[in-house]
Amino acid sequence: MKTSYEEALRIHRKYGSSDRVIRHCKTVAVVTMVLGEEYLLRGVRLDLDSAYSAALLHDIGRNVTQTVRHGVEGAELLRSEGMGPTVVEIVRKHVGAGISDQEAKALGFPDLDCVPKSAEEVIVCFADKMVDADSVRPFEEEVKRFQRKGHDVERLRALRARIEADLGEDPEALILDKVKESQ
Ligand SMILES: [Fe+2]
Repeated sequence: MKTSYEEALRIHRKYGSSDRVIRHCKTVAVVTMVLGEEYLLRGVRLDLDSAYSAALLHDIGRNVTQTVRHGVEGAELLRSEGMGPTVVEIVRKHVGAGISDQEAKALGFPDLDCVPKSAEEVIVCFADKMVDADSVRPFEEEVKRFQRKGHDVERLRALRARIEADLGEDPEALILDKVKESQ
């Protein structure tokens, strides 16, 4: 079931999300819809309602922690709000370009499998990486941010390559074209 923006807002307010986080989530949901519709146009089935719902709420865990654990925390919080497993898993795996088993183990995460794999998981994760605050911006800027933070750039590039392989088209161009014109 698709979570309405109003319902997402109610949940954000309940847990104390800032306006900045809410605006960010809203933009990530717009980008998620752009990518998801491109998948559907190409005949790839995906649960776009769950992807949209998860995108709207993906950073809810920032009310618990600002660390990489915000994915795990957000997932648990949304489970307690009655969200389905697809939404919960998308939120759990959206951090970085996924977290490797080795890193998850070192962080003491309850589940090791933190790399987005389903179409729903990869589009929300990538949409998040293309949105800085509440604006879309070039992919290479996110690459630079990953480099500055010492994150795994290859995993970020692999995320983009996966979507490009699924769509047969560059997702960055699609996003910049379709979202920027509406901003
Ligand atoms: Fe996040």
